[in-house]
Amino acid sequence: MSNEQQPIRDAAIRLTMMPRDTNAHGTVFGGVILSYIDVAGGVEAVRHTKHERFVTVAMKEVIFHEPVFIGDLVSFYATTLKVGNTSITVHVEVEAERFGNKGEVVRVTSADLIFVAINENREKVAIGK
Ligand SMILES: CC(C)(COP(=O)(O)OP(=O)(O)OC[C@H]1O[C@@H](n2cnc3c(N)ncnc32)[C@H](O)[C@@H]1OP(=O)(O)O)[C@@H](O)C(=O)NCCC(=O)NCCS
Repeated sequence: MSNEQQPIRDAAIRLTMMPRDTNAHGTVFGGVILSYIDVAGGVEAVRHTKHERFVTVAMKEVIFHEPVFIGDLVSFYATTLKVGNTSITVHVEVEAERFGNKGEVVRVTSADLIFVAINENREKVAIGK
């Protein structure tokens, strides 16, 4: 995938992977990517609903198609699939732009997450109420 073919999209998060994010083989831990998927989904949930407090109740199957390396610029694109009574379902796509490789972009993984709106007492509440 080359950058020229990509439409401009607004990433919920975009960051460069550092040595602290990697295992002994020099690739990024899957768990690091999972945690950013969670954050990106949460950003979208808040942006979409204007509700400020959510907890993650479910993260659906996540399959890693390509590794992520130190120096890669990783983008997390989040879109809302569904807003329920107390929950919101968000799809997150993860892409890595390879460092120093003429901007080559690879699709790393994707996930569907469900967040539940809560109040300050951590009780679930209807979205928009
Ligand atoms: C999230 C939480 C408040 C839900 O409480 P609950 O009483 O079990 O909620 P319900 O069963 O009524 O479900 C609430 C909503 O979540 C959805 N939901 C619950 N479990 C789900 C699952 N496994 N998959 C998809 N959606 C789910 C329900 O469909 C419902 O959506 P709706 O209101 O839009 O119809 C509670 O389970 C909780 O606090 N979990 C811990 C969350 C957390 O701390 N996450 C971080 C972990 S470190």
